Amino acid sequence: MNQHALVVGGSRGIGLALVEALLADPQWVCVTAASRSAVETPELAALKVSHGERLQSLSLDVGSDASIEQAASALRARHPALHLLINSAGLLHGEGLSPERRLADVQAEQLLRSYAINAVGPILIAKYFQPLLSHDARAVLATLSARVGSIGDNRLGGWYAYRAAKAAQNQLMHTAAIELARRAPRLICVSLHPGTVETDLSEPFRGNVAADKLFTPAFAAERLLAVIAGLSRESSGRFYAWDGREVPW
Ligand SMILES: NC(=O)c1ccc[n+]([C@@H]2O[C@H](COP(=O)([O-])OP(=O)(O)OC[C@H]3O[C@@H](n4cnc5c(N)ncnc54)[C@H](OP(=O)(O)O)[C@@H]3O)[C@@H](O)[C@H]2O)c1
Repeated sequence: MNQHALVVGGSRGIGLALVEALLADPQWVCVTAASRSAVETPELAALKVSHGERLQSLSLDVGSDASIEQAASALRARHPALHLLINSAGLLHGEGLSPERRLADVQAEQLLRSYAINAVGPILIAKYFQPLLSHDARAVLATLSARVGSIGDNRLGGWYAYRAAKAAQNQLMHTAAIELARRAPRLICVSLHPGTVETDLSEPFRGNVAADKLFTPAFAAERLLAVIAGLSRESSGRFYAWDGREVPW
């Protein structure tokens, strides 16, 4: 069967490692990597040399409703069906944005910026790509979340914007999973925590992480794909970590 996967945020970090791992598995006849820069990154260009037409790129800005809608139409014109969509795009820090240590650091603009990429983007991706995932075969829609978005697991505090946006992402995906269980019974929707992974996103914050708790992107990708392979209908709407264990909401 022609299995097609899409990785949003596939240009760097965990997303790029997911693209590489999917290309190494012949069950995926086509893997599309999407992001703002996916059509031009050297890493994807190098993979294209080895994998040819099996790897495709798509321009998509998670912060823009119009861009997500356009990307979904463009992909639909190339492939009528998707069997796996992993949204790996996320934002923790960047120009003018850094995780808050104290309540006094909280700023409206930072809260909204994080919410746009970590919560609004993922549910719009679900909205516009769901028709490609709703068919007679098994399909999975997985969104990378973070354990720090768990309210039940929050014992440290801090990181207000990122925590709240990931908590909102989890709620939005859970809500979509309930609806889609009725309308697209073969589609499984989950949130996934990848562990602490050596990427641009974690770079400024991993000083105190023990070596055995810091994963390479390749290891995280391999674990996440194993979790995805083991999902059943009953898994839909849940939040799993890289080791397959459920994370409390
Ligand atoms: N690394 C960790 O330790 C860790 C831990 C827990 C959870 N996570 C979650 O795992 C996911 C992946 O994280 P990562 O560490 O791989 O991050 P990363 O290295 O910063 O990569 C982020 C990816 O998202 C894409 N992206 C960012 N903003 C985008 C936008 N507006 N539109 C489209 N794509 C966008 C980037 O591509 P472009 O720049 O080309 O657009 C890039 O491909 C995130 O959701 C993160 O919150 C990571």
